[in-house]
Formats: sequence, C-alpha cells, structure tokens
Amino acid sequence: MNKIPPVDLARQYRSISEETEIAVLKILSSGYYVGGAAVTDFEKDFADYTGVNHCIACNSGTDALYLALRALNIGTGDEVITSPFTFIATAEAVTMTGAKPVFVDIDLDTFNLDLTQVKNAITPNTKAIIPVHLFGQPVNMTQLMEIAIAHKIYVIEDCAQATGASWNGQKVGSIGHIGCFSFFPTKNLGACGDGGAVTTNDSEIASQVKMLREHGSSVRYRHDVMGINSRLDALQAAILQVKLRYLDQWNQQRQAVANRYQELLSPLPNLKLPQAILGGHHVWNQYTIMISHRDEVREKLQQMGVISMVYYPIPLQLQPVYQDLGYQIGQLPNSEQASYEVLSLPMFPDLTIEEQQQVVYCLKDCLS
Ligand SMILES: Cc1ncc(COP(=O)(O)O)c(C=O)c1O
Repeated sequence: MNKIPPVDLARQYRSISEETEIAVLKILSSGYYVGGAAVTDFEKDFADYTGVNHCIACNSGTDALYLALRALNIGTGDEVITSPFTFIATAEAVTMTGAKPVFVDIDLDTFNLDLTQVKNAITPNTKAIIPVHLFGQPVNMTQLMEIAIAHKIYVIEDCAQATGASWNGQKVGSIGHIGCFSFFPTKNLGACGDGGAVTTNDSEIASQVKMLREHGSSVRYRHDVMGINSRLDALQAAILQVKLRYLDQWNQQRQAVANRYQELLSPLPNLKLPQAILGGHHVWNQYTIMISHRDEVREKLQQMGVISMVYYPIPLQLQPVYQDLGYQIGQLPNSEQASYEVLSLPMFPDLTIEEQQQVVYCLKDCLS
C-alpha cells in the first residue's frame, strides 16, 4: 500500500509550477525583494477577495494577530477572550502585548468558541474577543458580533485556518473589526515560506498596523511608537498572487474530499464526524473526527501507511507556559475532551478517491 501523507504540497506545486516559476523569476530578475509592487499588488488582490478596504501583508499569522492587538492599543491590564483549543499563536500574540488571554470553552460540534459562555467571561477589562475559525469552520459571527457590539468590545478574527470561508455570504476577515490570516504553507492559501496579513475596513486601524509592522514608523527614520519588522517578501507575495487565483477551486476540492469522507465514514460506529454549521461556508483546512482510544488508532493507522495528525494534544489553559493563569483540570472540559479524542485525517485538495478509500479501509480495520 502507498503511504498517505496528511498533506502533499509538492503535488499542489506541480499543478501550478509553470505560472509560479514565471512569477518567481520575474521577482528574481527585478532586483526588488522586499516590499514594492509585488506586495502592494497582492495586498490589493487579497483585500478585494476578502471584501475589505485594506489588507496589510506581514511576516506571519502570529505577527498579524500581534499587530492587530497593538493597533487597538491592547496591552497590560487588558483581557482578551479566546479559545483554548487553537494553535498557541492565538494566545501567544495576546500575551506578547502584555494583555491576559481569557479562555472560554468550546462547542464540541464545531471545535469553536461556545458563544453561550462568552458573555459570562466579559469583565470591565475585556477589550477584545478573538474567535478562531478552527479547521476552516466559521464561527457564528452574527451571534458573536451582537455580543461584542452590546459590550463595546473589539473582534479580531483569527482566520489562519479559514481563508475563503464565509459566514452568511460574508468572507471571514471582513466581519469583525480586524481579520488575521496566516499563509504558512499548509494553510488553504499557503506561501512557500512564512507570511500573513491583516484585513480591515477601518483606515485608522490600517495605518496603525502599517506603521507598527515597519518599526513604528510612517515617515522614514522617524519612529513614533515601538514597532516590529514584519514584512512579506516580494517572492512570497508573487507566489501568493498566483495561488489566490486557485483558492476557490482548491476549497471546492476540499469540500468534495470532506463530502466523500462523510459518505464513507458515516456507516462506521463510534466516530464523531465533523459537521458544517448552517449559515457557514466551511473550507476544510482539516477534516477532524473524534474517536476514543485515539492514540492507539493513530498508531495503527501509521503502521498501515496512513499519517494522521492531532491538532491539538494539549489545550492552551493546560500548557506549561500558561500555568500562571491558574486554570484547573476539568475547568474547560470540552477543550480537554477534544484534545484527547481529535484526529485529523489526510486532507488536501488533490487527495484522490483511491487514497481516501484506503484511509477509510484502514480506519475500519482499526475499529474492528
Ligand atoms: C489558528 C491559528 N492562528 C494563528 C496561527 C499562526 O500563524 P503563523 O504560523 O503564520 O504564525 C496559526 C498557524 O498555524 C493558526 O493555526
């Protein structure tokens, strides 16, 4: 049997190699490698795609979150509500500003924030909520914006895993005050290296983000605030511009892969399959099931050549680095259950039917 990887970026590259190489060679021969037209052109295309007035490209999704928080003046003494079941970067960006992440448990049907619990976590110090559209599934933004507006709190969408997803027909990253994207290679729109972007309709926020990403400077060699260096390379911008043209097609292919898993796996007992919620357009960065004895199953799958992944084995409130926040085991039980039971199956646009059948065949074997 062939080995089935969780994701195969080389396969995707082969399908667009000609166009990509032309774009890359154009940059190499231009002599302009940082900033310039390649970056501003991509920023314009990505803003249009997302349906916002401004896109500010930066070095990573982590930086995008940090820049967004800083642009809103969030720092020491402030609280930011977010999910404990996400990549560390979401909370890390909060901590890096000096603010405190406040974790609210997740809903096990979506792996996203349980919005019924968000209201109870709001205090006079709460400045923002960061909903994470995890695995490509959009958060119910109608409900979330109602809560945020009622309490005058900013919403920063963590769209790292959901480029192209939408809620009620509106693209994620255009609904909250700010959207933050990652272009890490395995994301739905992935560069050939690190990259990220901040999106917003607010021109004041956009100019703050721009200034912060350029060492706190809007006039060359004059620095008004303490910023960072967070630029997207011209090469990455050129590659992303090519790939953006394929994003919707790739997301449709991901949807087809998810439909096929749904059909093939639904007869199997003792599995909880992911569901797209009504009103949301899910873009399936991951196809994540829940299963007991997850680690044993994962090990057996690996022996049969199927490589699955665990996102995430430890919820953030129980990470050693966050021990000082004082969360106890059992306090956010859904995030703990998810961390014990989630298993992400191979998922990428070019996964073949035969490969999916093999994944399902092996999974059946593990369960019998
Ligand atoms: C939900 C989420 N937020 C933020 C990030 C950070 O993005 P980057 O790796 O580009 O810094 C990631 C990356 O994996 C992510 O999955």
